[in-house]
Amino acid sequence: AHVVCEPCFGCKYTDCVVVCPVECFYEGEKVLYIHPDECIDCEACVPECPVEAIFHEDNVPEDWKSWIEKNAEEAPNCEVITEKQEPLADS
Ligand code: SF4
Ligand code: F3S
Repeated sequence: AHVVCEPCFGCKYTDCVVVCPVECFYEGEKVLYIHPDECIDCEACVPECPVEAIFHEDNVPEDWKSWIEKNAEEAPNCEVITEKQEPLADS
């Protein structure tokens, strides 16, 4: 599965959500999460993110490894997001 990492936090550009064919992005307060059981690894979202926050789980940079578990834990507790919205102010 793909994973949303640290650079998304406080940004939430949401360019990623509109290209996902399986609608597996979920919205946290400050960040989005990808549901690992739903992501089909199509990679469509990767080039869409202006801050390069999305990685395949096997390629997550060392410092952000904890985001793999964070996405898996948090996505099921959040609402699905499929439409682009305004980025957060501090982005
Ligand atoms: Fe969706 Fe594809 Fe990105 Fe997975 S890799 S989150 S399926 S756009
Ligand atoms: Fe976050 Fe990048 Fe999507 S900042 S909301 S992962 S486009």
